[in-house]
Formats: sequence, C-alpha cells, structure tokens
Amino acid sequence: MPNPNIPADSDQPQLERVSKLIARAGLASRRAAEELITAGRVAVNGHFISEQGVKADPDQDKITVDGTAIKLEDKPALVVVLHKPKYTITTRDDPENRPTVFDLLPHRYANLHPVGRLDFETSGVLIFSDDGTLTHLLTHPSHGVEKVYEARVRGEVGKETLDWLEKGVRLEDGVTAPCRARVLAQREKNALVEITLREGRNRQVRRMLEAVSHAASSLRRVSFAGVELEGMAPGEHRELLPVEVKKLRRVAEMGLKSKSRPRNRPKPHPRPVAQDAEETKARPESKPHPRMSRSNNGRARNARENTNRESAGRESDQAPLARRIERKWK
Ligand code: URA
Repeated sequence: MPNPNIPADSDQPQLERVSKLIARAGLASRRAAEELITAGRVAVNGHFISEQGVKADPDQDKITVDGTAIKLEDKPALVVVLHKPKYTITTRDDPENRPTVFDLLPHRYANLHPVGRLDFETSGVLIFSDDGTLTHLLTHPSHGVEKVYEARVRGEVGKETLDWLEKGVRLEDGVTAPCRARVLAQREKNALVEITLREGRNRQVRRMLEAVSHAASSLRRVSFAGVELEGMAPGEHRELLPVEVKKLRRVAEMGLKSKSRPRNRPKPHPRPVAQDAEETKARPESKPHPRMSRSNNGRARNARENTNRESAGRESDQAPLARRIERKWK
C-alpha cells in the first residue's frame, strides 16, 4: 500500500502540459498556446510537437516557441540597451571580421542575445536580453511592438510621400503595414523624417524610403518598445532597472492585445514598387503634413510644438525633440 502522505511521484519529474507552461511563461493564454502547438511552432528539447497533451518537465526540458526558449523562473530578465554605432554588425562573430556589437559590451554580457537587429550602417537603440520569452514578445511580428526611426533623406518630403509611407509601400516582399511618418525638419536639399513601424523586416525603413525616391543617407533607431537612448553616446550601454524591464514586458504584452494601427487606412498605396525620380518630382508635395504645425518648413520650433501637443504620451520622457533635431543637423 503506498503511503498516502507521500506523493507517488515525489522522485519523478513534475511534468506539466506544454501549453500550460507556455501560458505560465506569460507568452500566451492557454488557448493561444494550444494554437501555437497546433501550428507546429513549439518544440520540446528540439523536437517539434503538434499534439495537445504533451507534457514536459519545467526544470529540465527546453521548450521553444519559434526557436526562442521560454523562461519560467521568477528571476527578472537581464536587459541591456546599447547605442549601436554605425558600422558595427549585429552578430556575435562576423566572418568578415567587422566590428560586432558584442565587441562593445563587457564580457559579462556575452550570454545575452540581441533582440532583433540593426543594419551595419544603422545606429541607435539595440536591446540585448537573456530572456527568450521577452525576446519573443518583442520581436515576433504578430506582437507589433513600436520602433521609431529617424532618417536623413534627400530632397523635399511632402505630404503625399508621407501618406504613401503611412498607407503602405509595395516592396519585393509585399506591401508594408500602415505606419506613422512625419517630417521633423526640412532643409533645402534634405529632410529629417521620423518613421514609426510595428513591423521589422530586413532593411525595411531604407527600402521604404528608396521606394518613395528618398533614399536615406543616415538612419537611426531612436526608440524600441519605448526604450530610448537618453543621452547615451554611440557605443555606450546601460542595464535596464528591474522596474524598466517590467515596463518593457508590459509594453511587449500590450502589443499582443492592442493591435490598433496608427491610422485606420486598410488599403495600401496603389503605386507600384519602383518609382522613377522624375515621376516623384512631378507630384505636388508642398503642402504641410497634417501633423506639422502651421507650416512644413521643417524648423525645429514647429516640430517641438507639434510634438509637445500631440505626442505627450509617447514622447513625454524622451529628450526634447528639438534637441534631437539640432544634434542631427550638426
Ligand atoms: N530598417 C532599416 O532599414 N534598417 C535597420 O537597421 C532597421 C530598420
């Protein structure tokens, strides 16, 4: 007769349903976790599962969703933000021996992984984490986390171009999702444009700008899921405080729930992929962007007024926009 006070399986691993473990990791509801399994996106110790009811040992087994390991411990994630300089590559080892982003971090962060990537030529916010669940939440396209970019582009950027960018640009890999775009500053020969995306395709901002005949001469990510550079010089990094990590997780989870798009414009812009420069020039683009105050001459004052009025929520705690713009034009 087994002793009823000792659980029969006390020496046995405590197996739990994989869907339950995914839900416990905060990645999805039980139901959504079951859908992930059915869709073949979940693996246990490297073996993909597609049936419900499969159990795993949370202490021993490695469960991955779309290749990233879920994290069940209560230990807060370690998250580092780096101001990635231009001409560094977002990888651990580069076969061409170019400087990598890991060259800029102390050795104690060698176990972290980059959350998404930035191009070799692109600078700005790059996050590193040791938490696969958080990384998944932040990077999976279905979660639509916001990324804000500033691009210096050639020529005058008019309302029509901004509308086009916002509605969706046809690229080789499909039409881009609706986004936000505005001119922060306009000079005679070039402009500073801010683009806020919820997608993260390869070289997306550069390709979008090329498609509208305003190739970027420089590109910087100024915010990723609300994390900003806050005065960090290129090459500098800092560890997020636990409270900031919590906020980051909340933002990532919110992305799951609020699939609200910046504007309710379901139809992509009808223009085809490649625009020749002449055609673009011919279009009237001198009207101010609706969200630029009074005029679209791109002066920092206008951008600052505009930002303060409209974007108090998103940008209230970032360096004043005008300062960013002044820095940018130096
Ligand atoms: N879009 C780009 O074009 N490059 C990046 O690095 C990120 C977004």
